Amino acid sequence: MYKFEYLSNSPAATLSLGKKIGELLPVGSVIALTGELGCGKTLITRGICTGLGVPSRQINSPTFVLVNEYKGRLPVIHMDLYRLEGVYDGFEIGITDYFSRAADSVMIIEWAEKVRTILPPDLMWAEFDIISDKQRRIVLSTDAKKFAGLFKELKGK
Ligand SMILES: Nc1ncnc2c1ncn2[C@@H]1O[C@H](COP(=O)(O)OP(=O)(O)OP(=O)(O)O)[C@@H](O)[C@H]1O
Ligand SMILES: [Mg+2]
Repeated sequence: MYKFEYLSNSPAATLSLGKKIGELLPVGSVIALTGELGCGKTLITRGICTGLGVPSRQINSPTFVLVNEYKGRLPVIHMDLYRLEGVYDGFEIGITDYFSRAADSVMIIEWAEKVRTILPPDLMWAEFDIISDKQRRIVLSTDAKKFAGLFKELKGK
């Protein structure tokens, strides 16, 4: 199990953690983001996408369309499942079709816990806690070996 805990003191710090992650992600990465409204899931996604070379004007929260796709060093599939009730809603929007494309892209899923039982295997969790107005605890964890290099780099900083 790989685990990295980060205390972010500002939106900029969360953004730059995301950027670092995006620079290091291997193809086939799935990142499951959890945490309450306004904890920073979209902000870290922005950083990850920037690190992947996605032009920043492309990056928006897909709350109303559920899924956005971007082109960076790798294709990026960004989902926001806030409005899903659960797994059955997920099936209705064809979520398993998206999941079947995970191997060739980077997939970032806000509110991933809503479809926990059908998520792709070997993903990395990024769990957010709001500590105060400007502080967030961000815990990254995974069992998947493909993230070994990423965790080594993050811990080396
Ligand atoms: N340390 C921090 N890291 C991230 N965001 C922070 C931090 N401190 C304050 N914020 C603020 O918290 C908000 C995070 O918004 P963001 O849209 O990223 O949250 P979210 O988790 O995607 O919310 P939602 O569940 O509505 O999609 C922003 O307004 C940001 O400025
Ligand atoms: Mg969001």
